[in-house]
Amino acid sequence: MEDLERGLLKFKGFYFHHKAFDTGFLENLDDFEIRDDDVFVVTYPKSGTIWCQQILSLIYFREHRKRTENVETSYRVPFLEYCSRHIDFGKTPSPRLFVTHLPYYLVPRGLKDKKAKIIYVYRNPKDVMCSYFHYLNTYPIFKAADSIEAFMKQYLEGKVLGSLWFDHIRGWYKHRNYFNIQFMMYEEMKKDLRSSVLKLSKFLSKDLSEETMDDVVRQASFENMKDDPLANNENMLYRHVGSKLQEGHFLRKGTIGDWKNHMTVEQNERFDMIFQKQMKDFPLQFIWDVNKTQN
Ligand code: PPS
Repeated sequence: MEDLERGLLKFKGFYFHHKAFDTGFLENLDDFEIRDDDVFVVTYPKSGTIWCQQILSLIYFREHRKRTENVETSYRVPFLEYCSRHIDFGKTPSPRLFVTHLPYYLVPRGLKDKKAKIIYVYRNPKDVMCSYFHYLNTYPIFKAADSIEAFMKQYLEGKVLGSLWFDHIRGWYKHRNYFNIQFMMYEEMKKDLRSSVLKLSKFLSKDLSEETMDDVVRQASFENMKDDPLANNENMLYRHVGSKLQEGHFLRKGTIGDWKNHMTVEQNERFDMIFQKQMKDFPLQFIWDVNKTQN
């Protein structure tokens, strides 16, 4: 089912970007060969994808840390579902690093051997929505909703790339025991990046020296990434989305609680009601505000 107005294509119940869509690859994705040392970053869009791609690039590639190679983060940790035309994953040396927005039921079944590792990064869904709204409005090609109200409707109906936020996180969490998975929260990364990198490096069985840890934390900061053409995604988007930024940056604000600057009291209450209903009994915590923790 296509929604070309918004550049979407629905396949097996999930919305993809129609231009970057590769039917043959996706039809056979279940059989995609997984190696034991593969690492996958899984996110719903706008939840910290490029951030985690950058952290992995810095952890795994000395050349990236030391800036001795001119290779973009998005090449070092490519999108599984969108890069199959440009990269022969069968020839990529191990350990392979991937990123994906796929729901749990569309990823290669080899991941269920529980050897390859999955990092699921999640962010409070109001900030995701606001980030998404700005992102779509930054690139003329997307023909985005022109108000938060209009976008909130699409988002809460799941008519966006990545489909419904609630389904994505609940699906992955509910099926977590099928996978070797570590959940990471965007807001915790924001509050204490060093501890988050440590947690990740333990999960990845990477023993980082103090010097390496310093390099990773410094180069994965919002300020450094924003000015780093290898890490800020802007060249990659220019190549693939095919249009220049109208204004602003892919790394826009990188804060917690920006939704408060966008949503009215009424919109926030409506959102909360849907959230409570959808996420009742969901055990992961969310941080909505820099100073508070809530569920
Ligand atoms: S995408 O299109 O799905 O790949 O987008 P994604 O990378 O998941 O999300 C983009 C948002 O993540 C913010 N970001 C960061 N925040 C804090 N620190 C760092 N280092 C960082 N890197 C990316 C980015 O700014 C987008 O959020 P907003 O709220 O729009 O600023």
